[in-house]
Amino acid sequence: MSDDRWNAVDAYTTALLQPADPVLEAVIRDNAALPTIAVSAAQGQFLNLLALAIKARRILEVGTLGGYSAIWMGRALPEDGRLISLELDPHHAEVARRNIARAGLESKVEVRVGAALDSLATLKDEGGEPFDLVFIDADKRTTPEYFSAAVDMSHPGSLIVVDNVVREGRLIDADSDDPDTKGMRRLIEQMGADRRLSATVIQTVGVKDWDGFAFALVIGT
Ligand code: SAH
Ligand code: DHB
Ligand code: MG
Repeated sequence: MSDDRWNAVDAYTTALLQPADPVLEAVIRDNAALPTIAVSAAQGQFLNLLALAIKARRILEVGTLGGYSAIWMGRALPEDGRLISLELDPHHAEVARRNIARAGLESKVEVRVGAALDSLATLKDEGGEPFDLVFIDADKRTTPEYFSAAVDMSHPGSLIVVDNVVREGRLIDADSDDPDTKGMRRLIEQMGADRRLSATVIQTVGVKDWDGFAFALVIGT
């Protein structure tokens, strides 16, 4: 499902608000051989402004791909800020590291290779400072477990953003056997049952077709 005008609106606003950016254009060229599923420019800018709004110093990303969203968020970090991005595919991670270096962010952005569940357990064991912002954008079926780990490593005031929760409306397919649909339905149920959170879903249209983000602000522990 899509409408030509969704793309046209993204093209119109992006031309004015996310104008020529040689680094990100090179990243997009470099990522051409990877799945074309990175966030849009408008969405990347949105992640950047969320990070700035909450003055994020520590950011966690689950699902790096070629580093496009990581660069948008990494650009919002202060001098002593850090972003850790988790990626299963070593080739994606290699492309991402090259792109992150091209963006001049190699001292702030670290890509860790491995299954995100394992990397999240390691991060928890390391006992570092909690994350201010978490962006979850990996395999959809395991999203509830990534979300639980994110809440575990958060503090009151942390913001957790989840991509691709609506998936062209498949979110409401209650009888679906699709593990990704089931994963996103479990996520929303989990968010609704967790009294520590203020959470919502905002649907989106545009170059990513019909989809949506879930947002959860940690308000208690
Ligand atoms: N956030 C990126 C897009 C991520 S696409 C951007 O907007 O630029 C999803 C990524 O999650 C892919 O690179 C895929 O390899 C990765 N992924 C899939 N399963 C994973 C897992 N179990 N652990 C970590 N990463 C995983
Ligand atoms: C897919 C994954 C994504 O993270 C996304 O933003 C869009 C599509 C996919 O796996 O199809
Ligand atoms: Mg996504």
